[in-house]
Amino acid sequence: MIEKVIEITKIAGEVVREGFGKNFEIELKGSVTNLVTEIDKKSEQVIIDFIKKNFNNHSVLAEESGFSKESSEYVWVIDPIDGTTNFAHGLPIFSVSVGLQKNGETICGAVYDVMRDAMYSAELNSGSYLNGKKITVNANADLSRSVLVTGFPYDIAENPNNAVEKFSAFLKKSRAIRRLGSAAIDFCYVAQGVFEGFWEVSLNPWDICAGKLLVEEAGGIVTDFNGNSIDIFSKQILATNKLIHQEMLDILLEH
Ligand code: IPD
Ligand code: CA
Ligand code: CA
Repeated sequence: MIEKVIEITKIAGEVVREGFGKNFEIELKGSVTNLVTEIDKKSEQVIIDFIKKNFNNHSVLAEESGFSKESSEYVWVIDPIDGTTNFAHGLPIFSVSVGLQKNGETICGAVYDVMRDAMYSAELNSGSYLNGKKITVNANADLSRSVLVTGFPYDIAENPNNAVEKFSAFLKKSRAIRRLGSAAIDFCYVAQGVFEGFWEVSLNPWDICAGKLLVEEAGGIVTDFNGNSIDIFSKQILATNKLIHQEMLDILLEH
């Protein structure tokens, strides 16, 4: 299955790359902060058509069209563009994320960092890969020498959910914090050992599905802010190289 997941993630990524920088329609999803472009919809449709053609009875959970009506042990969890704000504003940091679950467990996933032509993929119990080469989390156990990454929910103005307080606490305890704008890429960079930790207060299943497996298969860990194991519906995530996990949990709990 991983070959199929990689194949469709790449095809959708090419659609996204083709659309980048061109004229496309942008709509608001309820607020000025939450966008959807014509290309998000096009990418999602390409992925869904592929699944319908190859795995007609599989279910789909996709950001722009929701749950499909099929009821299968297999569910494809799709973010057609993760990083839509970047995409819409011409910043070349966005990805396509496709995860495949069987009976509620993610069995494989791929995140394609479109403009870097970087295909991250993972299969349960088989490791994580970047363009076919194995990747692992890094071995840095020192938070003060760590680079962290985070993101903020679209409803931050109405529902601050302590995201800013946590951000400010980590700023003082780490080497640096980045905010790239694509949660799926944030997970990939933890899996690759670029960042030691990634936390976010409110994510969606399509942001989490493939990225979580990538971090775990690269030797990292993903929990909620209490250190409990999570599924893709859990919202809160802390993904690290394991070594700084407890220290980050302590700070998340305190703030
Ligand atoms: C968003 C991005 C962003 C994260 C948001 C997500 P979208 O996804 O992953 O980095 O901070 O929480 O909603 O809307 O670009 O698919
Ligand atoms: Ca997303
Ligand atoms: Ca999206």
